[in-house]
Amino acid sequence: MTTPSRARSFNGAAARYADHRPSYPPALLDALEELCGRPLAGARVADVGAGTGIATALLHARGARVTGVEPGAGMAAEFRRRNPGVPVVRGDGNRLPFATGSLDLLTYAQSWHWTDPAQAVPEVLRVLRPGGALAVWSNDPDTSVAWIADQEARIEERFGPGWYINERTRPRPGLDFTTRLLRWSRRVSVDTHLAKLSTHSLFLIGRPGTEAFLAEERVRLTGLFPDGWVDERYAVELNVAVRGPDGGRPTRPGA
Ligand SMILES: C[S@@+](CC[C@H](N)C(=O)[O-])C[C@H]1O[C@@H](n2cnc3c(N)ncnc32)[C@H](O)[C@@H]1O
Repeated sequence: MTTPSRARSFNGAAARYADHRPSYPPALLDALEELCGRPLAGARVADVGAGTGIATALLHARGARVTGVEPGAGMAAEFRRRNPGVPVVRGDGNRLPFATGSLDLLTYAQSWHWTDPAQAVPEVLRVLRPGGALAVWSNDPDTSVAWIADQEARIEERFGPGWYINERTRPRPGLDFTTRLLRWSRRVSVDTHLAKLSTHSLFLIGRPGTEAFLAEERVRLTGLFPDGWVDERYAVELNVAVRGPDGGRPTRPGA
């Protein structure tokens, strides 16, 4: 469930989040440029729910004129520490701090699901220029890999179904997206993997059993990967909708 306490939970763990959450693969930025039909260089972009700036930094590195938008004080402070020179404003996807028709691209990297679509969609339509694009992406553990599927099953068994909130759990009223699925991986220590796991909102809100669960996972994974390293596999789902030249609702690129 996307409760206000879960939406705010990242702020108390911002440094851990920035240290251990994965970034995104270069192929994501390539696909974003392709589906938006323009290079990121020079584009006026807002990265909403920017957190500590993981996605914002990638957009900035491609030459986008990007501003991070982040409601949480802890995450915004960590953003500023880690990304000097990249602008960030305190703001909310439900009420964007931008002028009407002022942006080429809005990005929501694992953050769309924290907004209320009834408010967020009209805000997208307001701030995008005609022909501008909305991009929403998730970065989910790849459950086609056996040990990852097993871990997901253990989490669900302990904490209940639907523990993992992502973009697919949220409605997108009236938006016609084109989707790309990108698989990628990173090799990290078991310690880093568990630290990353602990930055998911389920584990940040202090549900009873959290500490015990993470300790049990350490034992299990150390048995499974005796050298202490794991290949974390991910599946990024990128969804892009382009606003019509007449200013209509975002639709499929090229439609
Ligand atoms: C999973 S983090 C993603 C952070 C970053 N985009 C990244 O790729 O690492 C979700 C972020 O959404 C923010 N958030 C929560 N509610 C929000 C809202 N209503 N509008 C925009 N962002 C929100 C949280 O504070 C948090 O920083």
